[in-house]
Amino acid sequence: MDKPHENPVDAYWMPFTANRQFKKAPRLLARAEGMHYWTPEGRQILDGVAGLWCVNAGHARPKIVQAIQEQAAEMDFAPPFQMGHPKAFELAERLVQLTPAGLDKVFYTNSGSESVETALKMALAYHRVRGEGQRTRLIGRERGYHGVNFGGISVGGMVANRKMFGSLLAGVDHIRHTHDPARNAFSVGQPAHGAELADDLERLCALHDPSTIAAVIVEPVAGSTGVLIPPQGYLQRLREICDKHGILLIFDEVITGFGRTGTPFAAQRFNVTPDLMTVAKGISNGCVPMGAVFAKGSIYDTFMNGPEHLIEFFHGYTYSAHPLACAAALGTLDTYADEGLLTRAAELEGYFADALHALRGLPNVIDVRNIGLVGGIELAPLPGEPAKRAFSVFLDCWEQGLLIRTTGDTIALSPPLIVSKAQIDEIVGTIATALKRAA
Ligand SMILES: Cc1ncc(COP(=O)(O)O)c(C=O)c1O
Repeated sequence: MDKPHENPVDAYWMPFTANRQFKKAPRLLARAEGMHYWTPEGRQILDGVAGLWCVNAGHARPKIVQAIQEQAAEMDFAPPFQMGHPKAFELAERLVQLTPAGLDKVFYTNSGSESVETALKMALAYHRVRGEGQRTRLIGRERGYHGVNFGGISVGGMVANRKMFGSLLAGVDHIRHTHDPARNAFSVGQPAHGAELADDLERLCALHDPSTIAAVIVEPVAGSTGVLIPPQGYLQRLREICDKHGILLIFDEVITGFGRTGTPFAAQRFNVTPDLMTVAKGISNGCVPMGAVFAKGSIYDTFMNGPEHLIEFFHGYTYSAHPLACAAALGTLDTYADEGLLTRAAELEGYFADALHALRGLPNVIDVRNIGLVGGIELAPLPGEPAKRAFSVFLDCWEQGLLIRTTGDTIALSPPLIVSKAQIDEIVGTIATALKRAA
């Protein structure tokens, strides 16, 4: 047997992590409850990011814990191909009560990345089944994040996630991103300028011919790239252009789903209904991995032809509709319903916005963006060292007992939807201290 690593944190190659920096001074979380984590030494950490945009109901919620425990004892696994189990159907019925009208079919996955791959494949296959198999192009958006699998990084637009991985999917193009600090810096809620950026889709239609385009995928609010809020009218315009050309519109709601923007889904907040909608994270409160794609009934119906004994869509995962995940999701929906959490972000949005925008004027704050319980604070980068200033703020907040997230030089906030006003003040106050020290 090989010699064990001298440092007990060596063997784990950590995802999306500065491994060498981390392993010199590991940041470990050992326990969680409500709005807080605790380190192994017992230091309390306020959760400013719902784990990773997923623990929307807060940590260790009793109904979810109980549901998982009972399910583990009752049935560990059931094959999802050609078989089913009651909770998978019960959950689907419950979920489609929450979605915008028409999005009434659910396909289960295990993550946001898998949801994206599933939605892209559904879009391509849908057109083929209905006799428009020439619609093979997929359109994403610059600065988009759609997970880390090949379809997702192809339609995604974050260069660091793409550049190492070859030529990606063929036939993909991107519309322009919507970030326009010259006109929109420090907007409260949706920026006023930029609806016309949706017209960039017309440019791609003119270039490729719309009859070759299967789908457009966007995040209604772009999170991982640094919290970009859609300009007023932008998503409506994208919807109109898709309709005009017979292109499917996919909303990636992996972070916006389940109450983050003040409605169950951002589609409702912005009053634009996509044809396919990807979710994960908050579907099971992050407690057991789970994702899903919501599809319009008309899309599902299109697949339902040919001999009845044949599989209609050759796609699925061993762990689609995993019993533990379904149980966790049912406990999650109960918790959301009991406490009104899917609309609570709307009640707190004004308070959260005021608190965040009070950071304007602090050293190096060049923009503040917000919607629902999502916040972005963009910092001027250190000359020649992008991302370093924000990372130092992250480390300082950690030392002060607050978990935040940074992407590039933007601090992204997404507290659990149970956050109190006092905790919002604590989050923002801690960041203010760190910003002053990072100056
Ligand atoms: C919009 C969006 N899509 C997809 C994903 C990928 O989800 P996962 O990490 O569960 O694969 C994320 C993750 O943050 C996301 O924000």
